[in-house]
Amino acid sequence: MRRAKISIIGAGNVGATCAHWAAAKELGDIVLVDIPDRVGVAQGKALDLAQCGPIERFDANILGTSDYMDTANSDVVVITAGMPRKPGMSRDDLINVNVGIVKDVTAQVAKHSPNAVLIVVSNPLDAMVYTAWKVSGFPTNRILGQAGALDVARFRTFLSMKLGCSIEDISSLLLGGHGDDMVPLPRFTSVAGIPIDQLLSQADITECVERAKLGGGEIVKLMGTSAYYAPASGTIQMVEAIVKDKKRIVPCAAYCEDDYGVAPARRARATSWASPWCSAPRAWRRWSPSR
Ligand code: NAI
Ligand code: 2OP
Repeated sequence: MRRAKISIIGAGNVGATCAHWAAAKELGDIVLVDIPDRVGVAQGKALDLAQCGPIERFDANILGTSDYMDTANSDVVVITAGMPRKPGMSRDDLINVNVGIVKDVTAQVAKHSPNAVLIVVSNPLDAMVYTAWKVSGFPTNRILGQAGALDVARFRTFLSMKLGCSIEDISSLLLGGHGDDMVPLPRFTSVAGIPIDQLLSQADITECVERAKLGGGEIVKLMGTSAYYAPASGTIQMVEAIVKDKKRIVPCAAYCEDDYGVAPARRARATSWASPWCSAPRAWRRWSPSR
């Protein structure tokens, strides 16, 4: 038996926090990659994190590097490389810079870990997942984008603040892309099985929906850069589901083959990015590395 190997590309805020959650949950050995100019940052964060092991009691080899050879034969690769947005920017404003970064990174990842499951986090999310799919040549069930796990967590957080009840008892679902037009779904939202519209007024529900949709921007305005604790937490929820083969159902950017009436050809004609990717919940089994 060997431990799962998880490579995280980009040792910035989201990447390093992904490494943190993955180590704390003891999901496997971790390789943290950044560009040669920032290899010291990747190495330093990896070492710092490894030194939490004796205190937090996790066993994991954690390596910082700029050499993709070190990522060879990863089971899961998370791509967080790229620029985050600044106040006033939309996620789409990042496309020109990040598309080049995601192309380069994906080519290296696909070369060294041809059997990995790829989880893209870099923005604009749906377009970057599409880019990674095209560059890697991986089958669609091995390329996902992290968005829905975060967005639905934001929606649940705002509902729990309104209700004053435990976040654990709120179950919900969200569809659509990772942008301000994402679609939280109150009709699939319940608290300990009780439909949300029996507990909150329509006005309160709408307020939570709107706050979730703009949740990323709210944090950018406060911090001057984008969020990373919850984005990393959502990403590692997906990694955990994969490495433990938990059969979870998690909303994420996935290639739609007529699911929800979204077919690649129809969607390609309807969007300027020609992207058939959209956030959708699907039985985790469809992405199991063994299929
Ligand atoms: P950051 O600036 O803290 O980190 C980005 C890292 O990527 C830097 O360390 C940088 O050196 C590295 N990098 C740049 N080019 C690279 C390359 N070619 N190879 C390897 N590493 C490279 O940014 P942060 O906050 O970590 O955000 C990263 C990306 O994730 C952004 O595009 C951001 O918009 C996106 N994001 C997506 C979320 C989602 O829910 N999908 C949520 C939060 C952020
Ligand atoms: C977020 O939603 C910026 O996509 C990032 O926080």
